[in-house]
Amino acid sequence: MPGMLNLAEIDLPLATVLDEQLEEVELILQRQVASDLSAVNALCCHIEQYGGKRIRPMLVLLSGLAAGPPPWDGSALGEKHRVIAAVVEMIHLATLVHDDVLDEARIRRRVATVNHLRGNETAVMLGDYLISNAFHLCSSLKDPTINLSLGEVTNTLCEGELLQLHHRDDCDLDEQTYLEIARRKTASLIGECCRLGAMLSDHDGSGSICRSMRSFGFQLGVAFQIQDDLLDITGDESIVGKSLGKDLDSGNVTLPLIRYLASANHADRSTTLRQFAQRNAEQLRIRLMESGAVRNAQREARYLVEHAKTELSCLVPSPARDLLAALAEAVISRRF
Ligand code: IPE
Ligand code: IPE
Ligand code: MG
Ligand code: MG
Repeated sequence: MPGMLNLAEIDLPLATVLDEQLEEVELILQRQVASDLSAVNALCCHIEQYGGKRIRPMLVLLSGLAAGPPPWDGSALGEKHRVIAAVVEMIHLATLVHDDVLDEARIRRRVATVNHLRGNETAVMLGDYLISNAFHLCSSLKDPTINLSLGEVTNTLCEGELLQLHHRDDCDLDEQTYLEIARRKTASLIGECCRLGAMLSDHDGSGSICRSMRSFGFQLGVAFQIQDDLLDITGDESIVGKSLGKDLDSGNVTLPLIRYLASANHADRSTTLRQFAQRNAEQLRIRLMESGAVRNAQREARYLVEHAKTELSCLVPSPARDLLAALAEAVISRRF
Protein backbone atom coordinates (compact mmCIF):
# COMPACT_ATOMS: atom_id res chain seq x y z
CA MET A 1 0.00 0.00 0.00
CA PRO A 2 1.47 3.39 -0.90
CA GLY A 3 2.00 5.79 1.96
CA MET A 4 -0.34 8.73 2.55
CA LEU A 5 2.39 10.98 1.28
CA ASN A 6 3.58 9.53 -1.97
CA LEU A 7 7.27 10.21 -1.44
CA ALA A 8 8.11 9.20 -5.00
CA GLU A 9 5.95 12.08 -6.22
CA ILE A 10 7.40 14.73 -3.92
CA ASP A 11 10.19 16.54 -5.64
CA LEU A 12 12.28 17.25 -2.58
CA PRO A 13 15.64 15.82 -1.52
CA LEU A 14 13.99 15.37 1.86
CA ALA A 15 11.48 12.88 0.42
CA THR A 16 14.37 10.66 -0.65
CA VAL A 17 15.93 10.96 2.81
CA LEU A 18 12.66 9.99 4.42
CA ASP A 19 12.18 7.08 2.06
CA GLU A 20 15.65 5.73 2.82
CA GLN A 21 15.15 6.15 6.55
CA LEU A 22 11.83 4.32 6.39
CA GLU A 23 13.52 1.41 4.64
CA GLU A 24 16.00 1.19 7.50
CA VAL A 25 13.15 1.31 10.00
CA GLU A 26 11.56 -1.60 8.14
CA LEU A 27 14.75 -3.64 8.48
CA ILE A 28 14.98 -2.92 12.21
CA LEU A 29 11.39 -4.07 12.63
CA GLN A 30 11.93 -7.24 10.60
CA ARG A 31 15.13 -8.10 12.47
CA GLN A 32 13.44 -7.60 15.80
CA VAL A 33 10.44 -9.87 15.18
CA ALA A 34 12.46 -12.61 13.43
CA SER A 35 12.33 -15.85 15.39
CA ASP A 36 14.29 -19.09 15.14
CA LEU A 37 10.92 -20.82 14.85
CA SER A 38 9.55 -21.03 11.32
CA ALA A 39 5.99 -21.22 12.70
CA VAL A 40 6.45 -17.76 14.24
CA ASN A 41 8.31 -16.36 11.26
CA ALA A 42 5.51 -17.40 8.92
CA LEU A 43 3.10 -15.24 10.91
CA CYS A 44 5.48 -12.29 11.00
CA CYS A 45 6.03 -12.57 7.24
CA HIS A 46 2.29 -12.63 6.75
CA ILE A 47 1.73 -9.35 8.57
CA GLU A 48 4.77 -7.72 6.97
CA GLN A 49 3.62 -8.75 3.51
CA TYR A 50 1.89 -5.47 2.83
CA GLY A 51 3.01 -2.42 4.70
CA GLY A 52 0.50 0.01 6.10
CA LYS A 53 0.73 3.74 5.59
CA ARG A 54 3.57 4.01 8.14
CA ILE A 55 2.25 7.33 9.37
CA ARG A 56 3.61 6.84 12.89
CA PRO A 57 7.23 6.13 11.87
CA MET A 58 6.97 9.00 9.38
CA LEU A 59 5.89 11.35 12.16
CA VAL A 60 8.80 10.27 14.38
CA LEU A 61 11.29 10.89 11.58
CA LEU A 62 9.77 14.13 10.29
CA SER A 63 9.40 15.55 13.79
CA GLY A 64 13.03 14.60 14.42
CA LEU A 65 14.10 16.34 11.24
CA ALA A 66 11.97 19.41 11.77
CA ALA A 67 13.13 19.90 15.38
CA GLY A 68 16.76 19.39 14.43
CA PRO A 69 19.22 21.91 13.03
CA PRO A 70 19.59 22.79 9.34
CA PRO A 71 20.34 21.66 6.66
CA TRP A 72 17.54 19.07 7.19
CA ASP A 73 19.35 16.56 5.06
CA GLY A 74 18.78 13.66 7.42
CA SER A 75 21.97 14.15 9.42
CA ALA A 76 19.92 15.09 12.51
CA LEU A 77 18.39 11.63 12.51
CA GLY A 78 20.22 8.96 14.43
CA GLU A 79 19.73 5.28 15.18
CA LYS A 80 17.52 6.21 18.14
CA HIS A 81 15.00 7.88 15.83
CA ARG A 82 14.90 4.82 13.62
CA VAL A 83 14.55 2.43 16.55
CA ILE A 84 11.71 4.49 18.04
CA ALA A 85 10.07 4.65 14.62
CA ALA A 86 10.20 0.83 14.49
CA VAL A 87 8.95 0.55 18.09
CA VAL A 88 5.87 2.72 17.51
CA GLU A 89 5.01 0.83 14.34
CA MET A 90 5.27 -2.46 16.25
CA ILE A 91 3.04 -1.15 19.02
CA HIS A 92 0.56 -0.03 16.37
CA LEU A 93 0.76 -3.38 14.59
CA ALA A 94 0.11 -5.24 17.84
CA THR A 95 -3.00 -3.12 18.47
CA LEU A 96 -4.25 -3.80 14.94
CA VAL A 97 -3.83 -7.56 15.33
CA HIS A 98 -5.77 -7.46 18.60
CA ASP A 99 -8.30 -4.93 17.31
CA ASP A 100 -9.15 -7.24 14.43
CA VAL A 101 -10.05 -9.92 16.97
CA LEU A 102 -12.38 -7.49 18.76
CA ASP A 103 -13.95 -6.38 15.47
CA GLU A 104 -13.96 -9.87 13.90
CA ALA A 105 -12.37 -8.24 10.86
CA ARG A 106 -11.31 -10.38 7.91
CA ILE A 107 -9.13 -8.04 5.90
CA ARG A 108 -6.27 -5.80 7.00
CA ARG A 109 -3.79 -4.04 4.75
CA ARG A 110 -5.27 -5.95 1.82
CA VAL A 111 -4.59 -9.41 3.19
CA ALA A 112 -6.48 -11.77 5.46
CA THR A 113 -6.31 -10.88 9.14
CA VAL A 114 -4.46 -13.27 11.44
CA ASN A 115 -7.69 -14.05 13.29
CA HIS A 116 -9.43 -14.91 10.04
CA LEU A 117 -6.54 -17.01 8.78
CA ARG A 118 -5.40 -18.70 11.97
CA GLY A 119 -8.02 -18.03 14.62
CA ASN A 120 -8.33 -15.74 17.62
CA GLU A 121 -5.89 -17.66 19.83
CA THR A 122 -3.04 -17.17 17.39
CA ALA A 123 -3.96 -13.50 16.83
CA VAL A 124 -4.01 -12.80 20.56
CA MET A 125 -0.60 -14.39 21.05
CA LEU A 126 0.89 -12.74 17.98
CA GLY A 127 -0.31 -9.34 19.23
CA ASP A 128 1.35 -10.11 22.57
CA TYR A 129 4.52 -11.18 20.76
CA LEU A 130 4.59 -7.87 18.86
CA ILE A 131 4.00 -5.67 21.89
CA SER A 132 6.59 -7.62 23.87
CA ASN A 133 9.10 -7.20 21.04
CA ALA A 134 8.30 -3.50 20.83
CA PHE A 135 9.25 -2.95 24.47
CA HIS A 136 12.22 -5.31 24.21
CA LEU A 137 13.55 -3.27 21.31
CA CYS A 138 12.79 -0.03 23.11
CA SER A 139 14.75 -1.23 26.15
CA SER A 140 17.82 -1.69 23.95
CA LEU A 141 18.02 2.14 23.84
CA LYS A 142 18.73 2.08 27.58
CA ASP A 143 16.65 5.20 28.10
CA PRO A 144 14.06 4.38 30.77
CA THR A 145 12.19 7.64 30.18
CA ILE A 146 11.21 6.43 26.70
CA ASN A 147 10.06 3.06 28.05
CA LEU A 148 8.05 4.89 30.69
CA SER A 149 6.35 7.26 28.29
CA LEU A 150 5.54 4.54 25.76
CA GLY A 151 4.32 2.30 28.58
CA GLU A 152 1.96 5.07 29.60
CA VAL A 153 0.78 5.36 26.01
CA THR A 154 0.01 1.65 25.70
CA ASN A 155 -1.86 1.76 29.03
CA THR A 156 -3.91 4.68 27.70
CA LEU A 157 -4.48 2.98 24.37
CA CYS A 158 -5.89 -0.13 26.06
CA GLU A 159 -8.11 2.07 28.23
CA GLY A 160 -9.47 3.64 25.05
CA GLU A 161 -10.30 0.26 23.54
CA LEU A 162 -11.87 -0.84 26.86
CA LEU A 163 -13.95 2.34 27.04
CA GLN A 164 -15.12 1.71 23.49
CA LEU A 165 -16.09 -1.87 24.37
CA HIS A 166 -17.98 -0.56 27.38
CA HIS A 167 -20.06 1.68 25.11
CA ARG A 168 -20.87 -0.86 22.42
CA ASP A 169 -24.47 -0.48 21.28
CA ASP A 170 -24.80 2.67 23.37
CA CYS A 171 -26.68 5.09 21.12
CA ASP A 172 -26.67 7.64 23.94
CA LEU A 173 -22.90 7.89 23.63
CA ASP A 174 -22.07 11.59 23.80
CA GLU A 175 -19.51 13.45 21.78
CA GLN A 176 -17.21 14.00 24.74
CA THR A 177 -16.96 10.27 25.42
CA TYR A 178 -16.49 9.52 21.71
CA LEU A 179 -13.62 12.02 21.63
CA GLU A 180 -12.16 10.55 24.81
CA ILE A 181 -12.08 7.12 23.13
CA ALA A 182 -10.36 8.58 20.06
CA ARG A 183 -7.84 10.48 22.18
CA ARG A 184 -6.90 7.42 24.15
CA LYS A 185 -6.93 4.67 21.55
CA THR A 186 -5.41 6.65 18.67
CA ALA A 187 -4.20 10.16 19.49
CA SER A 188 -2.07 9.18 22.50
CA LEU A 189 0.32 7.16 20.34
CA ILE A 190 0.38 9.63 17.44
CA GLY A 191 1.08 12.51 19.85
CA GLU A 192 3.93 10.57 21.43
CA CYS A 193 5.45 9.81 18.00
CA CYS A 194 5.79 13.55 17.37
CA ARG A 195 7.04 14.33 20.87
CA LEU A 196 9.67 11.56 20.87
CA GLY A 197 10.91 12.39 17.37
CA ALA A 198 11.39 16.03 18.41
CA MET A 199 12.86 15.14 21.78
CA LEU A 200 15.55 12.96 20.22
CA SER A 201 16.70 15.90 18.08
CA ASP A 202 16.12 18.65 20.56
CA HIS A 203 17.72 16.95 23.58
CA ASP A 204 15.18 18.63 25.79
CA GLY A 205 12.23 16.41 26.66
CA SER A 206 10.55 19.09 28.73
CA GLY A 207 11.01 21.85 26.16
CA SER A 208 8.28 23.82 24.50
CA ILE A 209 8.98 22.30 21.07
CA CYS A 210 8.28 18.84 22.46
CA ARG A 211 5.05 20.03 24.06
CA SER A 212 3.89 21.68 20.86
CA MET A 213 4.83 18.66 18.78
CA ARG A 214 2.91 16.38 21.10
CA SER A 215 -0.09 18.68 20.84
CA PHE A 216 0.24 18.71 17.04
CA GLY A 217 0.26 14.89 16.92
CA PHE A 218 -2.49 14.55 19.47
CA GLN A 219 -4.95 16.75 17.59
CA LEU A 220 -3.92 15.12 14.36
CA GLY A 221 -4.57 11.73 15.96
CA VAL A 222 -8.16 12.63 16.84
CA ALA A 223 -8.71 13.89 13.27
CA PHE A 224 -7.14 10.67 12.01
CA GLN A 225 -9.64 8.57 13.97
CA ILE A 226 -12.58 10.71 12.81
CA GLN A 227 -11.45 10.19 9.21
CA ASP A 228 -11.02 6.47 9.84
CA ASP A 229 -14.55 6.32 11.23
CA LEU A 230 -15.84 8.21 8.18
CA LEU A 231 -14.07 5.76 5.86
CA ASP A 232 -15.69 2.91 7.77
CA ILE A 233 -19.08 4.32 6.68
CA THR A 234 -18.36 5.82 3.26
CA GLY A 235 -15.12 4.20 2.09
CA ASP A 236 -14.43 1.69 -0.62
CA GLU A 237 -13.03 -1.55 0.81
CA SER A 238 -10.85 -2.16 -2.24
CA ILE A 239 -9.17 1.23 -1.70
CA VAL A 240 -9.07 1.28 2.09
CA GLY A 241 -7.72 -2.28 2.14
CA LYS A 242 -9.45 -3.40 5.33
CA SER A 243 -12.87 -4.67 6.34
CA LEU A 244 -15.31 -1.75 6.48
CA GLY A 245 -18.65 -1.34 8.20
CA LYS A 246 -17.01 -2.81 11.28
CA ASP A 247 -18.03 0.01 13.59
CA LEU A 248 -21.68 -0.68 12.88
CA ASP A 249 -21.19 -4.47 13.02
CA SER A 250 -19.54 -4.10 16.43
CA GLY A 251 -22.06 -1.55 17.69
CA ASN A 252 -19.51 1.28 17.92
CA VAL A 253 -21.24 4.63 17.63
CA THR A 254 -19.11 7.22 15.82
CA LEU A 255 -19.20 10.97 15.22
CA PRO A 256 -21.55 11.23 12.20
CA LEU A 257 -24.22 9.18 13.97
CA ILE A 258 -23.76 11.10 17.24
CA ARG A 259 -24.19 14.41 15.41
CA TYR A 260 -27.16 13.12 13.44
CA LEU A 261 -28.97 11.82 16.53
CA ALA A 262 -28.30 15.06 18.40
CA SER A 263 -30.37 17.05 15.92
CA ALA A 264 -32.88 14.49 14.60
CA ASN A 265 -36.59 14.78 15.34
CA HIS A 266 -38.32 12.04 17.31
CA ALA A 267 -39.46 10.03 14.27
CA ASP A 268 -36.10 10.16 12.50
CA ARG A 269 -34.34 9.22 15.70
CA SER A 270 -36.53 6.12 16.17
CA THR A 271 -36.04 5.01 12.57
CA THR A 272 -32.30 5.52 12.84
CA LEU A 273 -32.04 3.61 16.10
CA ARG A 274 -33.92 0.74 14.48
CA GLN A 275 -31.60 0.79 11.46
CA PHE A 276 -28.63 0.78 13.81
CA ALA A 277 -29.99 -2.16 15.82
CA GLN A 278 -30.65 -4.05 12.58
CA ARG A 279 -27.13 -3.22 11.33
CA ASN A 280 -28.64 -1.76 8.21
CA ALA A 281 -25.42 -0.26 6.84
CA GLU A 282 -26.73 0.94 3.50
CA GLN A 283 -29.73 2.85 4.82
CA LEU A 284 -27.69 4.37 7.61
CA ARG A 285 -24.98 5.42 5.18
CA ILE A 286 -27.53 7.17 2.94
CA ARG A 287 -29.12 8.88 5.93
CA LEU A 288 -25.80 10.10 7.33
CA MET A 289 -24.64 11.30 3.92
CA GLU A 290 -27.85 13.01 2.86
CA SER A 291 -28.51 14.70 6.19
CA GLY A 292 -25.06 16.35 6.14
CA ALA A 293 -23.90 14.44 9.24
CA VAL A 294 -20.92 13.04 7.33
CA ARG A 295 -19.96 16.53 6.14
CA ASN A 296 -20.38 17.79 9.65
CA ALA A 297 -17.91 15.22 11.01
CA GLN A 298 -15.51 16.03 8.15
CA ARG A 299 -15.63 19.66 9.24
CA GLU A 300 -14.69 18.66 12.77
CA ALA A 301 -11.67 16.72 11.47
CA ARG A 302 -10.65 19.69 9.33
CA TYR A 303 -10.96 22.04 12.28
CA LEU A 304 -8.69 19.76 14.34
CA VAL A 305 -6.11 19.61 11.56
CA GLU A 306 -6.12 23.39 11.14
CA HIS A 307 -5.63 23.77 14.86
CA ALA A 308 -2.92 21.09 14.91
CA LYS A 309 -1.01 22.90 12.17
CA THR A 310 -0.79 26.08 14.23
CA GLU A 311 1.44 24.14 16.66
CA LEU A 312 4.01 23.81 13.89
CA SER A 313 4.87 27.48 14.33
CA CYS A 314 7.12 26.34 17.19
CA LEU A 315 9.49 25.11 14.49
CA VAL A 316 11.68 27.18 12.23
CA PRO A 317 10.49 27.04 8.61
CA SER A 318 11.98 24.04 6.82
CA PRO A 319 11.09 21.45 4.20
CA ALA A 320 10.53 19.00 7.08
CA ARG A 321 8.00 21.34 8.65
CA ASP A 322 6.26 21.69 5.28
CA LEU A 323 6.07 17.91 4.97
CA LEU A 324 4.53 17.66 8.44
CA ALA A 325 1.86 20.15 7.35
CA ALA A 326 1.30 18.16 4.14
CA LEU A 327 0.97 14.97 6.14
CA ALA A 328 -1.60 16.65 8.38
CA GLU A 329 -3.64 17.61 5.31
CA ALA A 330 -3.35 14.08 3.95
CA VAL A 331 -4.85 12.70 7.17
CA ILE A 332 -8.23 14.18 6.27
CA SER A 333 -8.09 13.97 2.47
CA ARG A 334 -7.02 10.31 2.42
CA ARG A 335 -9.22 7.61 0.99
CA PHE A 336 -7.31 4.77 2.71
C1 IPE B 1 -5.66 2.13 11.68
O1 IPE B 1 -4.47 2.83 11.60
C2 IPE B 1 -6.14 2.14 13.09
C3 IPE B 1 -6.51 3.46 13.57
C4 IPE B 1 -5.89 4.06 14.52
C5 IPE B 1 -7.64 4.15 13.01
P1 IPE B 1 -3.78 3.14 10.19
O2 IPE B 1 -4.81 3.68 9.25
O3 IPE B 1 -2.59 3.97 10.44
O4 IPE B 1 -3.36 1.68 9.71
P2 IPE B 1 -2.18 1.26 8.73
O5 IPE B 1 -0.96 1.20 9.59
O6 IPE B 1 -2.07 2.26 7.65
O7 IPE B 1 -2.58 -0.09 8.24
C1 IPE C 1 -8.80 1.00 16.45
O1 IPE C 1 -9.78 1.74 15.84
C2 IPE C 1 -7.69 1.85 16.79
C3 IPE C 1 -6.61 1.11 17.46
C4 IPE C 1 -6.03 1.60 18.49
C5 IPE C 1 -6.18 -0.17 16.95
P1 IPE C 1 -10.55 1.07 14.66
O2 IPE C 1 -11.20 -0.20 15.11
O3 IPE C 1 -11.43 2.06 14.02
O4 IPE C 1 -9.36 0.70 13.65
P2 IPE C 1 -9.58 -0.05 12.29
O5 IPE C 1 -10.62 0.70 11.53
O6 IPE C 1 -10.01 -1.43 12.63
O7 IPE C 1 -8.25 0.01 11.61
MG1 MG D 1 -11.11 -2.08 14.14
MG1 MG E 1 -11.91 2.01 11.98
